[in-house]
Amino acid sequence: MTERELTQKAVEMLERAYIPYSHFPVGAALECEDGAVYTGCNIENSSYSLTLCAERTAAVKAVSEGHTKFRRIVIAGNSEDFCYPCGACRQFLYEFSPDMEVICLNRAREARKMTLRALMPCGFDSTFL
Ligand code: THU
Repeated sequence: MTERELTQKAVEMLERAYIPYSHFPVGAALECEDGAVYTGCNIENSSYSLTLCAERTAAVKAVSEGHTKFRRIVIAGNSEDFCYPCGACRQFLYEFSPDMEVICLNRAREARKMTLRALMPCGFDSTFL
């Protein structure tokens, strides 16, 4: 899939966001090493801390379908600044693919790209256990 197509999928997922509390939609499109693509949106809950971010929704879908190696993720938000993944999502993705590419979009659909490792230096992983 091209980056443009992956971006389109992430943007489309903004419509699926379940956000009655924050009204802050996030969409994600995760591409696995084998080319499989899983999408996600944020899913909030009246017990606020149960909220799932878009990135983790996509990753859980991928892993539960047997895909544990990720190539890149596009994260779409509607804010002026780029929509960066939260700390919990960085750690969650790092478990599977620390060198994956993270592509963050802003409202204008401009992209800022970086590796997950750059977003999370000295990350914790199974080698410490
Ligand atoms: N959110 C995401 O979905 N991904 C992020 O990386 C940042 C935060 C969601 C969680 C919540 O539903 C809303 O954005 C406001 O925090």
